[in-house]
Amino acid sequence: MKDNPIGVFDSGVGGTSIWKEIIHRLPNENTLYLADSKNAPYGNKSKQEIIDICLKNSEILINKGAKIIVVACNTATTNAIDILRKTFDIPFIGIEPAIKPAALATLTKAIGILATKGTLSSDLFHKTAKEFASNILVIEQEGTGLVPLIENNLVDSIEMELLLQKYLKPMISHNIDYLVLGCSHYPYLIPKIREIIGNKVTIIDSGFAVAKQTEKILSEQLLLNDNITPGEHYLMSNSNINTLNHLVKEIDNTTIEQVNF
Ligand code: DGL
Repeated sequence: MKDNPIGVFDSGVGGTSIWKEIIHRLPNENTLYLADSKNAPYGNKSKQEIIDICLKNSEILINKGAKIIVVACNTATTNAIDILRKTFDIPFIGIEPAIKPAALATLTKAIGILATKGTLSSDLFHKTAKEFASNILVIEQEGTGLVPLIENNLVDSIEMELLLQKYLKPMISHNIDYLVLGCSHYPYLIPKIREIIGNKVTIIDSGFAVAKQTEKILSEQLLLNDNITPGEHYLMSNSNINTLNHLVKEIDNTTIEQVNF
């Protein structure tokens, strides 16, 4: 079982931002990455649709031997993680917008959150925001349109520039000092976001925390791979693999395939 891969899934290529943190922290682990690009974006789907998709993705990864699953998608985690944990026997790691560290650290008492509609409207997000950020100003912004542009390798397009300006400028006028990226696709936008918000705002995403938690749970369950050779990585997408190829080109030992699922 220790040799079995860590399974990771997302609505598409965005979860590779989390997957990269995992393989950086756990370089000897084998991984399986499922990019459900055909169904992206999840952010506009109903809770039940998201649950059904997550059950299917998890089943595929488990049938291919995943010993643990990282749900590298805020929208999927905030809507479906409880059901996944109840349905399957293996451990699940989820990802949520990092409101808590931002709310604890802000000096201006104003933070921004950029996430999908599905995440911002979820009960889990409301609960966390209420618990940790009820005494500060939280500017919630839906990132409508960003995920499809990232999926289509259009990070540097004029459409992206205009959307980011529209979403971020109001946050700057509210004097935020922390910006939480609540979608695993958005770390790929950090250079663009920086150009708009400047260097005074701290950007937080959850990749590092998820990788750390994955290591902790694998260790507690005696599932860490003790191989000393670098892990092998199999990535599958149910759509065109051009963007996936582009985003993971610097990672060794990867096989990328377009598969029907
Ligand atoms: N990358 C995902 C997230 O973290 C999903 C984006 C989407 O498919 O709408 O929320």
